[in-house]
Amino acid sequence: MLLCALSVLLYLSHIHVASGASCSCSSLVIPVHVNVLVPKDPTDIFAGLKSNASSLRRVDDTYGVYGVFCQPDTISPKNAGVIQLLVHGLSYTSQYWSPPVEEFRNYSYAAFSCDRGLSSLAIDCLGAGLSSRPVNASDVQYPTSAAVVSQLARHLKNVPVLPGAQQFKKIIGIGHAGGSFMLNFDAIVEGARSPFDGLILTSALIVEPGTGPPLSLLSSARDADPLRWGNLDPAYVIATNRTLLYPSDPTAFSPHMVIFDNFTKDVGSVSTADQVALTSLTTRYTGPVVKVVGSEDQLFCTGTRRCVDVAALTAAERVLWPAVQSFEVVVAQGSGHDMNLVFCARAIQYLCSLCGTVC
Ligand SMILES: *[C@@H]1O[C@H](CO)[C@@H](O)[C@H](O)[C@H]1NC(C)=O
Ligand SMILES: *[C@@H]1O[C@H](CO)[C@@H](O)[C@H](O)[C@H]1NC(C)=O
Ligand SMILES: *[C@@H]1O[C@H](CO)[C@@H](O)[C@H](O)[C@H]1NC(C)=O
Ligand SMILES: *[C@@H]1O[C@H](CO)[C@@H](O)[C@H](O)[C@H]1NC(C)=O
Ligand SMILES: *[C@@H]1O[C@H](CO)[C@@H](O)[C@H](O)[C@H]1NC(C)=O
Repeated sequence: MLLCALSVLLYLSHIHVASGASCSCSSLVIPVHVNVLVPKDPTDIFAGLKSNASSLRRVDDTYGVYGVFCQPDTISPKNAGVIQLLVHGLSYTSQYWSPPVEEFRNYSYAAFSCDRGLSSLAIDCLGAGLSSRPVNASDVQYPTSAAVVSQLARHLKNVPVLPGAQQFKKIIGIGHAGGSFMLNFDAIVEGARSPFDGLILTSALIVEPGTGPPLSLLSSARDADPLRWGNLDPAYVIATNRTLLYPSDPTAFSPHMVIFDNFTKDVGSVSTADQVALTSLTTRYTGPVVKVVGSEDQLFCTGTRRCVDVAALTAAERVLWPAVQSFEVVVAQGSGHDMNLVFCARAIQYLCSLCGTVC
């Protein structure tokens, strides 16, 4: 249901996103139309999936979705037609996938995978970064953000993302935390009709009702930074204390990354955190699925034995994905919740190799 078939180009640039490899990256804004039902109560923990019609309302709107599209100058036949749609988590933007500081060059998943012949589109989610931010944060709930992501995936299959760019036949959804929950929500809603040909869900395990990460980790953005966000709906929030997003071992990440993180953090809707129990519902999605979690993820793993027995964890997670082609859980040793932002490049390399199998 895309109103407009053409991407709006902001600017085109030919930049090196990785040492040695040449990639073309462009920033663009794609108009995406969504028409969905959201819960009238934005704190509904199942994001409306268990609601009757009288407790839902319609959101019918067109949003501008900002993204950074990267494609290798030389596309190998193996990866022709494959694109990774990268979906960041709450309080981040597309920059999560490509920390821009020179020193962090080899943290960039977009660069790393481009180097290996894979195209990607890293988007700013609805409400974040340079994408549209609805005035009312309660319009930004999983039904809306997930519809944005899946409409975008359909768009990538139907319309060249840039004039003359290759047409994509396979879309791999790769999420981080809240971005993984969006892809999970979409998999529940769309099942076998999903436009995604494979999913890699990082930093997102099942959250049983009432057991989510504490909302106290979030503050209203307008209180946290009145100068920048003073006019926002108070339901737009930011994670002010980033400590839990990193491994507890301070030598596992660069002190510079914390500064980068501080300068690039952004807002998200509090519903993103309120509605995570959606992950405890079954999906009929049929493609291959891999979940990746860091052994030092302070929100999901540390302080529990949950991520120690990978076979048990896999069995527990797999139950909700009965129709998938394949299902795997990987515990990336040493990685924290923000697995892209720690020294442990293995997580990134692993993701890329997964795409080799999933794509
Ligand atoms: C619909 O859901 C609401 C809220 O959960 C509930 O109060 C109401 O009784 C339900 N209505 C019907 C017809 O089931
Ligand atoms: C946001 O929209 C909902 C549903 O239309 C409404 O109930 C609520 O009052 C709105 N909030 C603000 C701050 O306008
Ligand atoms: C941030 O969170 C960590 C871990 O919960 C805590 O130890 C620390 O005191 C917090 N920092 C601030 C400034 O609140
Ligand atoms: C984050 O950046 C703000 C300025 O935007 C600064 O005042 C604050 O001290 C920084 N915090 C950290 C932890 O670097
Ligand atoms: C990143 O690159 C720097 C400089 O080339 C190198 O010293 C460092 O070991 C690399 N880090 C990882 C995790 O690959």
